[in-house]
Amino acid sequence: MTDPLLEVVDLGVSFRTDDGPVQAVRGVNLSVEAGQVLAVVGESGSGKSVTAMSLLQLLPPTAEITGRVTWQGEDLLTVPPSRIRQVRGGEISMIFQDPLTALNPVYRVGDQIVEMIQAHEKVSRADARRRAVEMLDMVGIPQPDRRVDQYTHEFSGGMRQRAMIAMALACNPKLVIADEPTTALDVTVQAQVLEVLTDLAHRLGTAVVLITHDLGVVAGMADQVSVMYAGRIVESGSVDHVFDATGHPYTAGLLASLPRLDGDVDQPLLPIPGQPPSMLSPPAGCSFHPRCRWASEAAGCFSVLPPVSDRSPGHSSSCHRARELVEAGLLDRDGVGAASAPGHAEAGS
Ligand SMILES: Nc1ncnc2c1ncn2[C@@H]1O[C@H](COP(=O)(O)OP(=O)(O)O)[C@@H](O)[C@H]1O
Ligand SMILES: [Mg+2]
Repeated sequence: MTDPLLEVVDLGVSFRTDDGPVQAVRGVNLSVEAGQVLAVVGESGSGKSVTAMSLLQLLPPTAEITGRVTWQGEDLLTVPPSRIRQVRGGEISMIFQDPLTALNPVYRVGDQIVEMIQAHEKVSRADARRRAVEMLDMVGIPQPDRRVDQYTHEFSGGMRQRAMIAMALACNPKLVIADEPTTALDVTVQAQVLEVLTDLAHRLGTAVVLITHDLGVVAGMADQVSVMYAGRIVESGSVDHVFDATGHPYTAGLLASLPRLDGDVDQPLLPIPGQPPSMLSPPAGCSFHPRCRWASEAAGCFSVLPPVSDRSPGHSSSCHRARELVEAGLLDRDGVGAASAPGHAEAGS
């Protein structure tokens, strides 16, 4: 096995606030190999963006960060700001939900890509511009040699996101972190934009960390998936393992709330009852227990932090009852549906 490109070990992020510490990220482990697409999935507030921002030292000074972030052998949490500026954009680039935070409305789109290239490489302006046009073409922007001289307001939402992808990939980074890059777009455009990103990444050998609250977009796009809840990774593995041999009730809940593509239209969509906890005082034991229909005192769910355990090689989850639930088929999509039939007592809601 090759060394991972990026390895996050036992990452913790806590914010100092007037109300006390907000424990946004707790003991997160992630590993991304060259050329791989890793999806990080979880409801809003689960700590996905804070995790992503901690990797490139983008958090405010109120954040206390612990753990290790190893980028090709180097610990990014301790390198000086000058080194981080090199890494940012040149080796690791980020795409955010709102392209207008990264694309400046008063500059031409092409000039911004050119500037980005010239900030990281010694190339002539003419060569950088040629590369900018080439990148716009690669992300599927029609008439790129004309579009390169336009401003962001002349681009539609989907085209802006494509331009962001062009900019993010222009310096041949080894890793792109895309934080909910398409959430603001309508569903069809979302799928197209994500396909452009993952296609291009696969073609160029770029690794991607794709952050999303929507487990549905993961299936066709990612190789690996890590599911986050209340600041922790609760399940991780290949997309096939996590979808077909689900090992955590939270993942099962996310899957049950997706529309089914395989035709069973009678199967109702089941949102997970209740709300994610406040990270000022997350629940003891398993953080998911207040919303989990399988939580039990006897299994330790209310008081003992569930350990990470292997379900199969490369697939793990943190649930006290995973083994018995999996064996009984209760975490299958049909099992979840059956268990919530009328009459069944539900936790949380
Ligand atoms: N600057 C901050 N100060 C205090 N709390 C924060 C700050 N940024 C994020 N948080 C909290 O950290 C938790 C995780 O947030 P975030 O990573 O943005 O979630 P996600 O991206 O998964 O929706 C949330 O409870 C959020 O309120
Ligand atoms: Mg976020």
